[in-house]
Amino acid sequence: MSAPRLELRGVSKTYSNGGLPVEVLHDVSLSAEAGTVTALLGRSGCGKSTLLNLSGAMDFPTSGEVLIDGRATTALSESELTALRRRRVGFVFQSFQLLPTLTVLENVELPLLLAGAANTSEAARQRLRWVGLEEKAASMPYQLSGGQMQRVSLARALVHSPDLLIADEPTGNLDTASGEQVLALLGEAAARFGATVLIATHSAEAAAIATVRVCLRDGRVEGIERQ
Ligand SMILES: Nc1ncnc2c1ncn2[C@@H]1O[C@H](COP(=O)(O)OP(=O)(O)O)[C@@H](O)[C@H]1O
Ligand SMILES: [Mg+2]
Repeated sequence: MSAPRLELRGVSKTYSNGGLPVEVLHDVSLSAEAGTVTALLGRSGCGKSTLLNLSGAMDFPTSGEVLIDGRATTALSESELTALRRRRVGFVFQSFQLLPTLTVLENVELPLLLAGAANTSEAARQRLRWVGLEEKAASMPYQLSGGQMQRVSLARALVHSPDLLIADEPTGNLDTASGEQVLALLGEAAARFGATVLIATHSAEAAAIATVRVCLRDGRVEGIERQ
């Protein structure tokens, strides 16, 4: 059997808070397959964003292992990590994080330029079409609504067809209708592009589209529900 796309094995994370160690994740184990959506649920401060950062190899566990396709993130060299982050992981944030001085198309194109890809403009246009915003290609981010900005950031996160799509409270700043559009696209990213989608969320609507729901409480897994 092949390894799951993402696996956390006994992951703990301790931060230093003014010199004092604070454990924010404790012995978390879970796995996520290609083409599935996993929702991380739990109160503010329970460790969702920390878990996402570890899953995207932006940070590393204090103990335990995060494996992507069976390889521990801590076993990768700097250049392997850079390649992994640029080619295989896409991020979406609550606050969109679009670059204000670039056009919509340029924002979407950016990950491809960083990865040294060819035909970047056509690929970016294709993703913009997918999120229904091709006609906004030449607009600046400030000219868009929040929902549109989040769809652009989703197009950007998926432009390099990442294996892992990580969304941190993607609907947190959106009205219900825009939030639903973004969630439908996240579901499609898994179903159509085969991405492993990981969403940290407070929203019941987001939890409802997930294949797997992981409830966190004070850095521990309280329960895992599969649909
Ligand atoms: N870089 C950091 N240094 C110290 N403490 C942190 C850091 N990042 C997060 N924390 C703390 O870790 C806990 C979990 O935070 P976080 O993962 O952001 O939770 P959530 O996303 O569920 O709100 C919080 O108590 C937070 O203050
Ligand atoms: Mg958070």
